[in-house]
Amino acid sequence: MSQLEFDESTARQLEVLYGTRDVLRRRQLVRDALGVARGERILDVGCGPGFYVAELLEHVGSDGSVVGIDSSQPMLAVAAHRSEGHDNVAFHEADATSLPVENASFDAALPVQVLEYVAEVPAALAEMYRALRAGGRLVVWDVDWATVSLHTTDLARTERILRSWDGHLAHPSLPQTLTAQLQGAGFDDVKLEGHTFATNELEPDTYGGFLVPFIAQFVVGRDGISKDEANAWEAEQRKLAQRSEFFFACIQFCFTATRPG
Ligand SMILES: C[S@@+](CC[C@H](N)C(=O)[O-])C[C@H]1O[C@@H](n2cnc3c(N)ncnc32)[C@H](O)[C@@H]1O
Repeated sequence: MSQLEFDESTARQLEVLYGTRDVLRRRQLVRDALGVARGERILDVGCGPGFYVAELLEHVGSDGSVVGIDSSQPMLAVAAHRSEGHDNVAFHEADATSLPVENASFDAALPVQVLEYVAEVPAALAEMYRALRAGGRLVVWDVDWATVSLHTTDLARTERILRSWDGHLAHPSLPQTLTAQLQGAGFDDVKLEGHTFATNELEPDTYGGFLVPFIAQFVVGRDGISKDEANAWEAEQRKLAQRSEFFFACIQFCFTATRPG
């Protein structure tokens, strides 16, 4: 079955998720890893609703520039709206494996939670390598979905639901192989940091709290999971939350690397 579609409905839901405190924290971690200076040229691959693009425009100032690329037109529409009024930003509808940009034309690039959706990761890494100048920096962020820990009274059902959720993307555990893939693409200084996103609140303002209904909606009709089963799983999580027994944790990984100078 097909992966998650980044259509208008997903764009609306991600717009909400990306305004939550957990994702604000994630953006801060990414910006710290990227270490952007004024005047730099930044490439956001899979820019989604454009939160990074808008924030990075403030950091690079009027002498710098930001290019956002995404394969989804609905995402690009939201992103363009967010950066209205700037003349040092451009958006392109394109695939991460075929970037419409000049060789060596960027100081830094960031695919944040994008490569896990891209079937041909080596092709996308080769494109970002080509787009970066010598000494240019890359920050890659992805989730290892095998690290999800969720309290449940029905382990077999939760396992079934989470394995079906793995079908929402191409590589459920991309961080496990990304170091070797980055090195294989020619990048140097490959480092990783893991960041835990954990919550005891089943509230849309937390990463885990947002995901439970999102997952329940996604898995219906996949891998033999009926609407009743998905609803029962979500209801169990809500019941646990009423008893202060909701628990969600996962590890998200921030990789940094440079194109050799
Ligand atoms: C989970 S969202 C992340 C958005 C953004 N990077 C952020 O963190 O705010 C993933 C984005 O990657 C885009 N995407 C997925 N596969 C892609 C591909 N092969 N080429 C370009 N963009 C892609 C989707 O359209 C979506 O906007």
